Amino acid sequence: MIELVNKRVLLGVSGSIAAYKSAELVRLLRKQGAEVRVVMTATATEFIQPLTFQALSGNIVYSAWDDADRGDGMGHIELARWADAIVIAPASADLLARLRQGMANDLLTTLCLASNGTIAVAPAMNRLMWDNAATKENMEVLRQRGIHILGPGTGGQACGETGLGRMLEPEQLVQGISGLFTSGILSGTKLLLTAGPTREPIDAMRFLSNRSSGKMGYALAQAAIEAGADVTLISGPVALTPPERAKRLDVNSANEMYEAVMSEISANDVFISAAAVADYRPANPSKEKVKRKDDNVDLALTQNRDIVASVAALANKPFTVGFAAETSDIEKHAMSKLKRKGLDLIAANQVGDGQGAEVDDNAMTLYWADGCQHLEKTTKSKLARQMVAIIGEHYRAAT
Ligand code: C5P
Repeated sequence: MIELVNKRVLLGVSGSIAAYKSAELVRLLRKQGAEVRVVMTATATEFIQPLTFQALSGNIVYSAWDDADRGDGMGHIELARWADAIVIAPASADLLARLRQGMANDLLTTLCLASNGTIAVAPAMNRLMWDNAATKENMEVLRQRGIHILGPGTGGQACGETGLGRMLEPEQLVQGISGLFTSGILSGTKLLLTAGPTREPIDAMRFLSNRSSGKMGYALAQAAIEAGADVTLISGPVALTPPERAKRLDVNSANEMYEAVMSEISANDVFISAAAVADYRPANPSKEKVKRKDDNVDLALTQNRDIVASVAALANKPFTVGFAAETSDIEKHAMSKLKRKGLDLIAANQVGDGQGAEVDDNAMTLYWADGCQHLEKTTKSKLARQMVAIIGEHYRAAT
């Protein structure tokens, strides 16, 4: 199940006899390539030992308030931010009621309140509790707030009764959790993406380049695949593993990237230019390694072609998205680039002072002709998913 590879699942376990099944859930999630951290409520620890989850997840288990500050760099805000999705399985009637009220009276509910990401719950309770008007109302409110509800299932219950309220089986939960990562907004589209830096040769050994790590571009490729797109990734030199289902073409210089993009572009519906393409290249690169002289050297530079502007100028242009990495006046520069390069959408972010390039977290503002949307600082993979959702909406509206 490709959707779960490298996904970070924060599994919340609350007090229900179904908690024993969550041990198997952890094992299955990890088997599918997900990273799992477990947070237990105090009642859950009476049903099953934290050690069970520690052994199966390979991570320490959080339960008490201060567990999230035990020195592994995971305070409760970091833990909420770490997660690609918070999944509460089993979610007891009490936990669901506290979630609905926005309570933060233990670590798990606090993490949910501190998260702006995906939250899913797998209810587990007696059929009469599930059928109670209070629970029904709680579920309706949670659903309206965008919380995903997995199950419950029907069948025999621990109390000896039969009916609706059983937690789904671990295999069914794995299916449901993988579904959280498939938005489908780009289903049936072909998407071309550039990522990473370019290297502009000075001589046989040396080149000019920049700080781009390719992380944002690769995260976008993964998010676009999850959203159903058929992705081609044209990558400058980076130390990253490409998403399994992307077609990857490796290039070095801006000229090579230009040629690769132009030969692929006609087949694509969407183009995202996340690469940090060098604006200039040495005018006269030497085939030999240039010898050191006892003097200063002048390096003549010549302009590279602007790849994203060339794509946007095509008669049959795809929906075109550019990036603007700026150190100041972000909005002004982004809007001027949007117009000058003929883009449909531009993603602008602050760089310098340890922000933007090379790091794992980023914040971003997306601008289009008559609007904008700010995306708060979070991991590049979460940011990529939010970006893909917005790009998908705009692409669908434009076609
Ligand atoms: O003008 P600036 O380099 O800031 O523009 C950034 C945007 O333009 C990015 O989307 C980048 O991928 C694209 N670009 C390009 N070809 C160039 C320079 C930048 O496609 N030669």
